[in-house]
Amino acid sequence: MVDSIHSILDKFEPGDKSSLIPILQDVQKENGYITSEAVDQISAHLLISRSQIFGVASFYSQFKFNPPGRHSIKICLGTACHVQGGDFLLNALKSEIGISPNETTEDGRFDLERVACLGCCALAPVVMIDGIIYSNMSVVKLKELLSKHE
Ligand code: FES
Repeated sequence: MVDSIHSILDKFEPGDKSSLIPILQDVQKENGYITSEAVDQISAHLLISRSQIFGVASFYSQFKFNPPGRHSIKICLGTACHVQGGDFLLNALKSEIGISPNETTEDGRFDLERVACLGCCALAPVVMIDGIIYSNMSVVKLKELLSKHE
């Protein structure tokens, strides 16, 4: 993985801070997520701090700093889903699988992400697991659904 980071960094001028987003995109495309070592190397290459990198990256939900789980959960907290109890679902998820958004469970079973709208507001509240949308969710339905994903 280290070699692939070097080959990505070699394509970008050292110290050119405008390269940050394209570098992050390339690293994520190559590895599936951005490792802590990659952040260190990007920091050294572009002469910017780790916190600046995280600060910029946090504006873009596409960037992941944890390895993906075997199952990816997206919980919608857009207006329609929020009004229909999306926060209850998120809290249930947190206590059921023990992680917060942008984290991956230690056993690699799930990763969790919060999203602003999945484009099917009439079916709120909505959760997506591995690309499949589950509508009109309740805490009970959600727990059942989780148990079906090992
Ligand atoms: S707000 Fe959740 S699908 Fe639109």
